[in-house]
Amino acid sequence: MSEKKLSGDVYHPTEEVINNANAKCDELYNFAERDYEGFWAKEAEELHWFQKWDKVLDDSNKPFFKWFTEGKTNICYNCLDVHLDSARRNKLALIWEGEDGEFKSFSYFALHRDVNKFANVLKSLGVRKGDRVTIYMGRIPELAIAMLACARIGAVHSVVYGGFSVEALHERIDDSESKVLITCDGAYQRGKIIELKQISDEALQRAATVSSVVVVKRTGHEINMEPGRDMWYHDLMALPIASNEENVEMMDAEDPLFLLYTSGTTGKPKAILHVHGGYMVGTYTTLKYVFDIHEDDRFWCAADPGWITGHSYIVYGPLLNGVTSFMYEGAPTFPYPSRWWQMIEKYGINILYTAPTAIRGLMRFGEAWPNRHDLSSLRLLGTVGEPINPEAWKWYYKVIGNEKCPIMDTWWQTETGMFMITPMPCTPLKPGSGTLPFPGLQMDILDEEGNPVKPGEEGFLVIKNSWPAMLRTIWNDPDRYVEQYWSKYDGMYLTGDSAKRDEDGYYWIIGRVDDVIKVSGYRLGSAEIESALVSHPAVAEAAAIALPHEVKGNAIHAFVILRDGYKRTDTFVEELRKHVGHEMGPIAKPEHIEIVDSLPKTRSGKIMRRVLKAKALGVDPGNISTLAD
Ligand code: WT7
Repeated sequence: MSEKKLSGDVYHPTEEVINNANAKCDELYNFAERDYEGFWAKEAEELHWFQKWDKVLDDSNKPFFKWFTEGKTNICYNCLDVHLDSARRNKLALIWEGEDGEFKSFSYFALHRDVNKFANVLKSLGVRKGDRVTIYMGRIPELAIAMLACARIGAVHSVVYGGFSVEALHERIDDSESKVLITCDGAYQRGKIIELKQISDEALQRAATVSSVVVVKRTGHEINMEPGRDMWYHDLMALPIASNEENVEMMDAEDPLFLLYTSGTTGKPKAILHVHGGYMVGTYTTLKYVFDIHEDDRFWCAADPGWITGHSYIVYGPLLNGVTSFMYEGAPTFPYPSRWWQMIEKYGINILYTAPTAIRGLMRFGEAWPNRHDLSSLRLLGTVGEPINPEAWKWYYKVIGNEKCPIMDTWWQTETGMFMITPMPCTPLKPGSGTLPFPGLQMDILDEEGNPVKPGEEGFLVIKNSWPAMLRTIWNDPDRYVEQYWSKYDGMYLTGDSAKRDEDGYYWIIGRVDDVIKVSGYRLGSAEIESALVSHPAVAEAAAIALPHEVKGNAIHAFVILRDGYKRTDTFVEELRKHVGHEMGPIAKPEHIEIVDSLPKTRSGKIMRRVLKAKALGVDPGNISTLAD
């Protein structure tokens, strides 16, 4: 790092952190700047390839970039098999604690065995290379096993977050045309059971493509099993079809690895496509350097595997690095607000990676809860999902990290697959800033006309070069891929976020500039929430906006117009909230629903959500010349 004096509130890493770090910072930044492809090639060489690539980056058909062309590999092989010939064979790959206190762990040997067996089960169910498999489960080890088993045989997994519900699941099964659904009977959350199998049954009544359902027994309560369609995981794993016969499929670097649905500006969620080669290299490298992965680390990413954070940094990143990944099933405050701190002490967690909303939620209970536990095993902390307010940052730094653990505030997206703006262990930190782009990445902040903005000014955050773990397209909709990400500015990827840069070049994310809402770090679309509202027979029209919320960051506020003949009753709003919960999932339930007679619209009939927002916040709505009324 340069010796230049930085402005503002700066936290310098300790000598110990800098000296122990994998990343010799200056070297990495310089190397990547000097020889971007060489930098990534060097990282890729640390992984296993059945056949080496001939070109690191092929940008002959922009924006459809290709990485490691003609390279043959398999990400699951790199997560498991490569570790079996060393001492890592008997090391723990995964430690899991259930909300009810149940405990499981898998050595690399055991995880490989189960993944390989389950991959053979999937094959016997007719799953072939390129087929899609939907996975809809709670946070249990079998979720990781299912993902890895798909990757192993070249099937494309599509994980649907367990907090989503009937319609959200149905839409994602339909769009991906999945053949198989892997789910569980239920999941524990705050001591209650989420009825995942029941929700699956309802979703499957609306979907036609699924022929087999594999059900993992977690809660053990009574559920419906449809003969001929539904099978228990443990039964299948005990059959001869769950053999130990090796089944790794040799994959082209550009072959699909997974689809992950995420919310965009309009309409239904889009399936982001990631591939075996580049995604593997990107997640491996970023985790290694940013969280400074050492051989004996126990890494805890407290996200859900149903979102990109869990894909990249609970499952793939840690296993590619051969470390121990920790997974916890339940709520952070169940049964007491000390649950997380207790587990950090119990398992000796070295790195904790979570979201601002969780930190704010835990902070509310005060310091006494963490102070009761020995958190000295922690070496690094991380945050992701939304901007972190300096107050929460400082609490995390002081109370959890004991002022010795740097906080990696990582900005990235489902689409980017890997960290994009992030500190390294050596980076001086400023609370609330993700600091600088990862080595070699060219990012900028532009005004409407495409000119870089001055320090301190707000603009559109863009990425100017390609990176290995980038999305390759939107599944079944390459036009939308080009239109959504590559059309505002020529040759640049539009992130959808607004940001500022300070005089030191540090990036400060402000938030989404489209109709994407981040609630507790979860990404939802205004349009999806509105369509869930409108699917209720009493609702004629609806608008959903985000308003600031102390713990969740944002909360959803909805405005609805009732159909003729429907009257507002005391229980109606609650019924409507329940309806959204049933269709989309509890996270999409509006905090507040207001029944209105009209909504502000443009003359062409588009709802002007920004006018609603300005009104709710009591601020100037800006230019309203297009308003119809
Ligand atoms: C959006 C992407 C990929 C991790 C989870 C979110 C916001 C993400 C940060 C951060 C400020 C952040 C952005 C981004 N975001 N990380 N460190 N600071 N904002 O993935 O669900 O695809 O959401 O999350 O608005 O565009 P996602």
